[in-house]
Amino acid sequence: MSVVQSEMEGEVYFPSPEVIAQANVPDWEAAAEFARNDLEGFWAEQANELEWYRKWDKVLDDSNKPFFKWFTGAKVNIVHNAVDRHVKTWRRNKLALIWVSEDGKEERTFSYYSLNREVNRFANIIKAMGVTKGDRVTIYLPRIPEIVFAMLACAKIGAIHSVVFAGFSVDALRGRIDDSASKLVITADGSWINGKIFELKRTVDEAIKSCPSVENIIVVRRTGHEVPMEAERDHWYDDLCALPIANGKCVTEQLDAEDPLYILYTSGSTGKPKAILHTHGGYMVGTYTTLKHVFDLKDEDRWWCAADPGWVTGHSYIIYGPLILGATSFMFEGGPVYPYPNRWWQLIERYGISVFYTAPTAIRGLMRFGEAWPNKHDLSSLRLLGTVGEPINPEAWKWYYRVIGKEKCPIMDTWWQTETGMFMITPTPVVPLKPGSATRPVFGQEAEILDDSGNPVPDGEEGYLVLKNPWPAMLRTVYGDDERYVRQYWSKYPGKYMTGDSAKRDADGYFWIIGRVDDVIKVSGHRLGTAEIESALVSHPAVAEAAAIGLPHEVKGQAIHCFVLLRAGFAGSPELAEELRQHVSTHMSPIAKPEDIKFVDKLPKTRSGKIMRRVLKARAQGLPEGDISTLEE
Ligand code: WT7
Repeated sequence: MSVVQSEMEGEVYFPSPEVIAQANVPDWEAAAEFARNDLEGFWAEQANELEWYRKWDKVLDDSNKPFFKWFTGAKVNIVHNAVDRHVKTWRRNKLALIWVSEDGKEERTFSYYSLNREVNRFANIIKAMGVTKGDRVTIYLPRIPEIVFAMLACAKIGAIHSVVFAGFSVDALRGRIDDSASKLVITADGSWINGKIFELKRTVDEAIKSCPSVENIIVVRRTGHEVPMEAERDHWYDDLCALPIANGKCVTEQLDAEDPLYILYTSGSTGKPKAILHTHGGYMVGTYTTLKHVFDLKDEDRWWCAADPGWVTGHSYIIYGPLILGATSFMFEGGPVYPYPNRWWQLIERYGISVFYTAPTAIRGLMRFGEAWPNKHDLSSLRLLGTVGEPINPEAWKWYYRVIGKEKCPIMDTWWQTETGMFMITPTPVVPLKPGSATRPVFGQEAEILDDSGNPVPDGEEGYLVLKNPWPAMLRTVYGDDERYVRQYWSKYPGKYMTGDSAKRDADGYFWIIGRVDDVIKVSGHRLGTAEIESALVSHPAVAEAAAIGLPHEVKGQAIHCFVLLRAGFAGSPELAEELRQHVSTHMSPIAKPEDIKFVDKLPKTRSGKIMRRVLKARAQGLPEGDISTLEE
């Protein structure tokens, strides 16, 4: 790539002739033009590259907006395209998954052929446990191959998986199992985090004390430490595998394109986390198309998406997208700095990773350890890089570009959400890049920046980011709460999808994401809701009321700061603050552990009693408080 001063605004990195020569992606303008004129035709063309048991009658059914439907009348199963179809071709011998344990001592690899066997086995087992089409299954597993098998097994038989990130603690897990009314929970004895065991099975035991729907628990052995097992209810996965029912093929259910594939809980503005629903057909086409066009994966590539399967990034781009493409995916159990901050670079070298995708927070964190760590390794296998989860500051972008990509790898800054299921604003390898901008909406999409009353703001000014067109991988609803789906996403600007982000557009039509405008805090790229953090605090006997806000943090992007009003008889102290931080960690998640807790006598509220987090945030940063006319007093 070369940095060129051009007509375009700001610093622009143009793809080099070598990058353009090897890129097998459509011409941006032509593809965008085609999709603009014929949205359904564009997506039908993509869908036709995949296998369907029966083709659709209609590509897009928008007769009941905003409940859009895609590929109606079609029969399909995402697992057929992710696994079954590859087993019929030469890809049966290709590696689907390469997995490495945290300590680096264990390596497990699966060809598409053996992946198929593992998925069949897992599917046979859950089927024998009485799980059928439409049932919800909670999966609470670490980054190990079994999470892939378990998810695909559910999809294969038409059950709906609900993966809960294994970094969530007991209350967060309980809420998600209970809301989804899961019959089955799939977990492990524990997970490895920086050489220590994080209890998973014990957390499940605690969580399901008040979840009557759960009939069975499958426990994958990972750490080998002792955990309590309840006869009848709890089953070791390896014991189940030894049973005759586990053997043989399990048919892949022929489903409607609009049948549910999974739910994934995510925090929105107020209230409890929302179960975002994705379906088989559209999600399959959306993840396939975007991964193919943006990361341009080829058969010789080794793709590493360093996210966790428990977040949407992992669902779409560790599991479904790469497998549908027939790619080789790399999965690492551990984190970037254990035992040393060269862990990732060492793995890129050792496994010849060619396309690497991570979050800005990881880059910022690794940057702090200096260039010497990556420079110890041969990173020449890399040809393309990516980021996701939060805005990337130009400084981190340039470091990533220079130190990791050696100024030859374009960086795909992909903006999207749990709700969108697939990339929405993103470059492709042939698009000129500007550090810090996710560039332009994907083919078939148009984005706008609006003011509060729905008028477009002039270029260069901040406003609400909305999406204008439906897309195949879009969420279909909030599971069990259609009304909330409409209210949350489609009511502020009728007919347009509200993203919850603020952004700017520049004169070249490039989008610059600023951040969330709702009560979502992005900590190290993880999406956390203030409501869930506050309710964890309020569950402590000393706390009467609490407010959580996100403040800028150099590495994490945002860090959680809390304001706590104590109950009568309790006095604030550093010890109590520490106890409350720990309380949030053990009840919600270690990643939600507040940076700082302040004890206050009063919280700023509106006359209707809503906490004004905006005012707290401004005060904490010494900024103007804005409109406080609705403040109680
Ligand atoms: C929010 C969605 C979908 C991947 C993981 C996050 C922020 C995401 C970017 C980016 C700036 C980004 C937005 C968005 N975000 N990608 N490339 N640049 N901000 O999914 O947990 O549902 O969070 O993440 O604020 O709304 P999520």
